[in-house]
Amino acid sequence: MQLALFPEKIDRKVAPTNLRSNRHPIHRWANFIAGYSPEFVSECARDAGLNRGDVVLDPFAGLGTTLTQALLDGFSAVGYEANPFFHELATAKIHAATGRISPGDVFAVLESTSEYGGNLSDIFSEDALKFLKKMFANDDFRMLAGARRAENLVSEADRPLFRLVVSRIMEAVCLSQTDGVYKAPTTRKAGKPFKVALVELRRDVLTDCQDILPKPDLTAELVLGPASQLGKGRPSTASLCITSPPYLNNFDYAEMTRMELYFWGYARSWSEITERVRSQMIVNTTTAPSDLKRQHLKFATKLPEGEREFLAPIVAQLRERRDQKAGKKDYFALVYPYFAQLLEVLQGCHRVLKSESPIHVIIGDSYLYGIHIPAGDICRRLLEVAGFDSLQQVLLRTRGERWILAKREGAGTPIGEYHIYGRRN
Ligand SMILES: C[S@@+](CC[C@H](N)C(=O)[O-])C[C@H]1O[C@@H](n2cnc3c(N)ncnc32)[C@H](O)[C@@H]1O
Repeated sequence: MQLALFPEKIDRKVAPTNLRSNRHPIHRWANFIAGYSPEFVSECARDAGLNRGDVVLDPFAGLGTTLTQALLDGFSAVGYEANPFFHELATAKIHAATGRISPGDVFAVLESTSEYGGNLSDIFSEDALKFLKKMFANDDFRMLAGARRAENLVSEADRPLFRLVVSRIMEAVCLSQTDGVYKAPTTRKAGKPFKVALVELRRDVLTDCQDILPKPDLTAELVLGPASQLGKGRPSTASLCITSPPYLNNFDYAEMTRMELYFWGYARSWSEITERVRSQMIVNTTTAPSDLKRQHLKFATKLPEGEREFLAPIVAQLRERRDQKAGKKDYFALVYPYFAQLLEVLQGCHRVLKSESPIHVIIGDSYLYGIHIPAGDICRRLLEVAGFDSLQQVLLRTRGERWILAKREGAGTPIGEYHIYGRRN
């Protein structure tokens, strides 16, 4: 297969990163570092020669870049997202892309929101309150609590947009410095006033919604839940898959959203974050549920023999290093579950895609205790096992060199991030 992706107008190495998302309507409302650009989605669709209404699939939808852009470009979209907060935000963007929201109503409610004067423990759990109080000035927190109480004044259909807007305000007023990923009350920044953040968001959202026409001929479905469900009973209707799975030992997507999970009541304690959110997600960090890590060898049996043989010495080395190293991280227990679960999802993609349909995966390698895990190569081989062919693997960039070399022994080679593509056979 010859893909004519990214002619001169888009830099091949930049398009699959999210560096451009903030320039795009709707996408700019919420996107995160682990995404790719809307141009990447449009280019993949153009390359696949899709027709209006054809279905684009993303099993790890995140904040919905694939689904949102597919809908804006005139295609239908289906996806899965296991984190309820990301699911909500992506749903808001998808509704917007299909012209199915009333932003005026959402902002009317927010503009008349006032500080909540009651007992905060009537709204938030004990753990949530303890955490959230450290993140905001008292008056901002009471405004946010007022907004949370006002949510039921908004129609069911506009709730995802309401939550998106309030969550973005929450991030702006938050006093905790973040690296754009985790929010923890350890480092401080100056927060924006609630009303200023509200005015800025209002301007962006209303501007972006102005030109979006309703698209009654397109379907958009974002399932809240693990992508392992993919293909179970779902007909083979998709014509293109574009996705980026969590990288091994990169982000803990549950911890990343701790502030929002607590604020909206998706979880009331750290253990509920694990039970309700982490347990639904691919095992990719050592914070994964202990029972999943304990059963890691069971996952090995779900991998093809060749891959088991490739991974066995890596797992053994990681196990050995665990006892020698500070932190005593049980990385060894992540390896089989991570790749077995990834394979299961890729097999699901194969079932849902029509014959000859292209698939695009963006994935990065990892270093665990100085041991290189070539996730790009492994993913390409798993795609083949799942039934894809004509596979190509393009190195997009190397990442983390400085950090790895400074902090991690034995990591002389930078880790690669790849665009892997192929076709369902
Ligand atoms: C790299 S991010 C995807 C980013 C996305 N491409 C975007 O532009 O927003 C991976 C996503 O997979 C989600 N995820 C993790 N395990 C999952 C699972 N088993 N099923 C569905 N989604 C999962 C995470 O919550 C995260 O949002």
